Amino acid sequence: MTEAFESIFKTKLAELLRTNRFGKSIYVFNELDSTQDYANALPITQSVHGTIVIARKQNVGKGRIGRSWVSPEGGLWMSIVIRPDFSADNIIFTQFIAALAVADAIQQATNIRSRLKWPNDVLINEKKVCGILVDVNLESKDKKIVVGLGLNANIESSLINNYLTADTTKATTLREEYGNDIDLVNLTKSIVDRIEYYYNFLSSGKVLEIIELWKQNSDMFGRRAIVYDGIEKIMGEVVDIDQDGSLIMKLGDDSIKKITYYGNVTFR
Ligand code: BTN
Repeated sequence: MTEAFESIFKTKLAELLRTNRFGKSIYVFNELDSTQDYANALPITQSVHGTIVIARKQNVGKGRIGRSWVSPEGGLWMSIVIRPDFSADNIIFTQFIAALAVADAIQQATNIRSRLKWPNDVLINEKKVCGILVDVNLESKDKKIVVGLGLNANIESSLINNYLTADTTKATTLREEYGNDIDLVNLTKSIVDRIEYYYNFLSSGKVLEIIELWKQNSDMFGRRAIVYDGIEKIMGEVVDIDQDGSLIMKLGDDSIKKITYYGNVTFR
């Protein structure tokens, strides 16, 4: 029974994908502790550029900043291995391209225009529908980036919101926003296709184009927000995204502050 889910998902996805390199190697599991841990641990020979790891549910899903990520059946829990052919300075943009890909796929499936929140959240109606986690290992011979996507698709948000702390953005799900369930294989196909599309921008150095597209998909700008930069909470107005991917804020005394730590942003 579960074997069937794994092989059906994998076969259908492989058939649908129109990519050159992403998704040429696909691992699908009925259940995993974490696709991120699995992808991080894959040996170099089994994790070529574009390798995808998907689990129907995760038992120990990982979020950013050491948080856990609730991952019941019905969501899209996926990690993608990237063997970067771009400068290490541009690593931050892997989360930008992943977020853009998710926004495009959501629009394709539901016609809903989601909005991006720096550094790496996808929101619908101000609530988080997808989180992105980027693990980077450029030290060893096995240089790789693992991009994890947690997309709350066909699940009830009450399952997730029960676990939120006071300062996390509320969660939502595609089921709740769209009113219907989405075909997860098609959704995965769209995301992977679009990641490859945007990845090509990154590998050809078109960082400014990525920033521009990202900004068009966000409505953070001009809003007052509180950003935690790893040391302190900074209050101000969100002004722009810098060329290096950092967030530019204008503080109360009109000074400009660049936030490079990938902290949390809360709107006021
Ligand atoms: C966040 O905190 O916003 C990032 C959440 C990332 C969750 C995804 S689900 C697939 C992959 N496997 C994990 O354990 N985490 C990421």
